[in-house]
Amino acid sequence: MTQKIAIAADHGGYTLKEDIKNFVFNDLNIEWIDLGAHSEESVDYPEYGFKIAEAIENGQADQGIIICGSGIGISIAANRSPSIRAALCTSKEMAELSRQHNNANVLALGARIISKETAMDCVQAFLTTEFEGGRHERRVAKLGGSQNA
Ligand code: RB5
Repeated sequence: MTQKIAIAADHGGYTLKEDIKNFVFNDLNIEWIDLGAHSEESVDYPEYGFKIAEAIENGQADQGIIICGSGIGISIAANRSPSIRAALCTSKEMAELSRQHNNANVLALGARIISKETAMDCVQAFLTTEFEGGRHERRVAKLGGSQNA
């Protein structure tokens, strides 16, 4: 099944968003949509967290990647939607665990916190790691929201 990924960032994450599109998406069998921002002009991160949540909830995308300076603000915004499980990750291991244990459907990154190389590793791991299910199924179900979104 082809994955459909939505990506969004504020001005602090704009450059890393472009790098992810160029270096990761083009190497993997995925379709992607870019929900902005489209420059380094200052914008407000909640709008981009909300856009990703909306794209996943309405079926435009299966998963999302969101980036701001720290990754904190945009992940808080996305996680306001009940069916979003946005995981702010700073290592490849965290990105793997967010999929294996939490069935995270959004990866959040802080462009001012991690190196470009670590960010690429996180994206690659997030997009290629499956949810383990089993005992984690019950815990994720307790978070509420849709399990498929
Ligand atoms: C923007 O300067 C910065 O506050 C934003 O990118 C993010 O780090 C917020 O959490």
